[in-house]
Amino acid sequence: MTWDVRGKNILVTGATSGIGLEASVELARRGARLVLVGRDPRRTEAAVAEVKSRSGSAEVSHLLCDFSSQASIRRLAEAVLARHDRLDVLVNNAGGVNKTRRLTEDGIEMTFAVNHLGYFLLTNLLTDLLVRSAPARVVTVASIGHRQGTLDFADLGYERGYRIMRAYSRSKLANVLFAAELARRLAGTGVTSNSLHPGAVATHIWSGAPLWARPLIYLLLRPTMISPEKGGETIVQLAASPELEGVTGKYFEEGRIVDPAPLAQDEALAKRLWEVSAELVA
Ligand SMILES: NC(=O)c1ccc[n+]([C@@H]2O[C@H](COP(=O)([O-])OP(=O)(O)OC[C@H]3O[C@@H](n4cnc5c(N)ncnc54)[C@H](OP(=O)(O)O)[C@@H]3O)[C@@H](O)[C@H]2O)c1
Repeated sequence: MTWDVRGKNILVTGATSGIGLEASVELARRGARLVLVGRDPRRTEAAVAEVKSRSGSAEVSHLLCDFSSQASIRRLAEAVLARHDRLDVLVNNAGGVNKTRRLTEDGIEMTFAVNHLGYFLLTNLLTDLLVRSAPARVVTVASIGHRQGTLDFADLGYERGYRIMRAYSRSKLANVLFAAELARRLAGTGVTSNSLHPGAVATHIWSGAPLWARPLIYLLLRPTMISPEKGGETIVQLAASPELEGVTGKYFEEGRIVDPAPLAQDEALAKRLWEVSAELVA
């Protein structure tokens, strides 16, 4: 049967703002049943109300999770499993930047923990449900910034040389490697895994940048930035498009399949990252 997003259960992380919110509105409009995940109860309830009113759909619920806490991610997965007997699409989207190096309660550098390990742990905890629901899709929001990313397993959390964009690019490289490795591991199950760059989007993401840099970002980048609605389109495409049935292990930039950075195509690196990530969430 052709993939039809109507009636599908779709979970979107980072659904309280930016491209996650806009993609949720559009997917709800198309008839999917949305589970919005946010960390702040008030913002998350407001997002549910906004998605309902803009989409005209009543099929919108929410769950809470702070992706900087592995315990919180485990509680989220338990809640999903308790409430939903199927999950057709998982959209890994929550993320951001951190102007200074901070550690999570699990002792891991914040950017790597939220942007990469958050996706990694949640997806692994929900994989059995996704496989039972197959055909199903995992959509991972990475960034073109992965092209600047490097991986140093001896210092994943930048104890030396932390810079906001270095940490961000590393986490986004990890997203592309993770999505490709997941595709390989789930081959034959009917669950696909792809990653994407949504474009340069005018969202709240740069609120984590240092104060001095914000006017510069807005001055230099804002004129070329696309709207969150437009930015959400690649998520909608990967979640909803029937043409992408069976397409897996690919990286999309602004709606088209392109080659990611050479490092992001390194299968041995992806395997090692998977193993190291598994240890970090054990
Ligand atoms: N904007 C761009 O130009 C751009 C380009 C490439 C890739 N991306 C990617 O797009 C994704 C979404 O970003 P955006 O641009 O839409 O930014 P955004 O408007 O700041 O949205 C980020 C979302 O992630 C959530 N989030 C952040 N940290 C979290 C945590 N610890 N626990 C739970 N939720 C958390 C935020 O929740 P709160 O509302 O609670 O803060 C918000 O819902 C990110 O993965 C980003 O890397 C964005």
